[in-house]
Amino acid sequence: MTEQRNVRDIRASASTTGSGAPAPSDRNSLTIGADGPILLHDVHFLEQMAHFNREKVPERLPHAKGSGAFGVFEATEDVSAYTKAALFQKGASTEMLARFSTVAGEQGSPDTWRDVRGFSLKFYTSEGNYDLVGNNTPIFFVRDPMKFPHFIRSQRRLPDSGLRDNHMQWDFWTNNPESAHQVTYLMGERGLPRTWRHMNGYGSHTYMWINAKGEKFWVKYHFHTEQGMEFFSNAEAAEMAGSDADFHRRDLFDAIERGEHPSWTLSVQVMPYEEAKTYRINPFDLTKTWPHADYPLVKVGKMTLNRNPENFFAQIEQAAFSPGNTVPGIGLSPDKMLLGRAFAYNDAQRNRIGTNFHQLPVNQPKVPVNTYMFDGQMAYHHSGNAPVYAPNSHNRPWAHETGPMHDGWEADGTMVRSAYTLRPNDDDFGQPGILVREVFNDAQRAALVETVAGSLLGGVREPVLSRAFQYWKNVDPNVGSRIEQKVRDGSASKPAEGMGEG
Ligand code: HEM
Repeated sequence: MTEQRNVRDIRASASTTGSGAPAPSDRNSLTIGADGPILLHDVHFLEQMAHFNREKVPERLPHAKGSGAFGVFEATEDVSAYTKAALFQKGASTEMLARFSTVAGEQGSPDTWRDVRGFSLKFYTSEGNYDLVGNNTPIFFVRDPMKFPHFIRSQRRLPDSGLRDNHMQWDFWTNNPESAHQVTYLMGERGLPRTWRHMNGYGSHTYMWINAKGEKFWVKYHFHTEQGMEFFSNAEAAEMAGSDADFHRRDLFDAIERGEHPSWTLSVQVMPYEEAKTYRINPFDLTKTWPHADYPLVKVGKMTLNRNPENFFAQIEQAAFSPGNTVPGIGLSPDKMLLGRAFAYNDAQRNRIGTNFHQLPVNQPKVPVNTYMFDGQMAYHHSGNAPVYAPNSHNRPWAHETGPMHDGWEADGTMVRSAYTLRPNDDDFGQPGILVREVFNDAQRAALVETVAGSLLGGVREPVLSRAFQYWKNVDPNVGSRIEQKVRDGSASKPAEGMGEG
């Protein structure tokens, strides 16, 4: 509301300098005579030029290209047996922001390049902000955060030419076989959603839920689109990339302007806390899904996007999401990727937006903030002359939790640098094999073969090429052989720049 009022006031009043005095002119700089030189004391002109030079912030690395909208999350079901989080109590209605994105492309890149799509949610709950920063796929390429920067660099640009490079991408993937599940999703239909409205979203990681009795559960979030899933073919996506690079951004904005408010149903899979210790798959491995036969979906509520941003820069570009932002009743898990992410995001935002990014309206919680983080660049909110230290004897509250954490888990052992301990079903190719054989139909399998072969024909060289054939034969011998055949006889259509990428 405050922001809307500001916009109306601005439209009604005269233009000013940054310090509020009447602006002398927004058309003419100050010169000696109409044809003479510009004067250094044209402060208004200099202020405009200097600010213009600083009117961008660094783009997100990764997930630079995207957009979003505001909305509401309504808890329609009773899941209080699993979580005490206020936003998930039946009947609660919570304001929220969603941002969708591609992963690898830069700000100006086409929305319809083949890629995973980001699915970021910020819930302004009555207990502080809760962020869920997921994707349109339920799993990820790697399972140790140490590999993340290497993965992202392999999807971006070559150091010499500045070009994107299929060889580099397949080199990374085939050297990291745990990527097979996500690469199968990426090379299938999910890599080309028709619009953001027509895709599902997933929390991807396993999170903890805690109920009012202190009982703990492990959960996975699924947001199913109520518009139905729809996809582009390679040809449609390539054409759209050329004719409207901002197609997904435009589609969401226009749909909301028309009053067509996209919605998603939230369900969770719930695993009892103790079962995680003995389940046949490591439930914290981000490259794995939990079979629905073992953990069926439990419905929670509905998210609807109903309000466009009024200002893209202020409300989307400066939005700061972090998987580390949790609220009572929700916790993290031993997933190493999630724990790595819990640090990475706010650190990126301190660099990208500024030390006090959390004070910006889009990032501010809707509850009073009483933090012992002080000062720094662009500090706006402050705590007056209240004590700046804790504990204090001057009535400023401070937190004092000691002992076992309500959202903690047991951890003990020797410090090591190691992969997860393997469980019986923890192979890298089992789940992608099931996806290809049992979930994909014949047409989807044929499209997968065509897309992968096309991508490999886009400059992938030995020894990576042979490794890629073996990678797909490990996923499924038949699909692997068909891909090899198509590459060997050159019969797949090579994708346009960017189209075979992650
Ligand atoms: C250790 C692994 C990861 C690291 C270190 C990492 C790091 C980052 C960083 C630094 C950003 C930019 C944040 C900003 O500037 O505001 C980002 C954005 C993003 N990441 Fe990750 N990421 C990781 C894994 C993942 C995973 C597994 C997912 C999905 C399940 C994911 C989804 C996203 C999304 C959706 C965004 C865009 C956020 C927005 O809309 O503002 N990332 N990531």
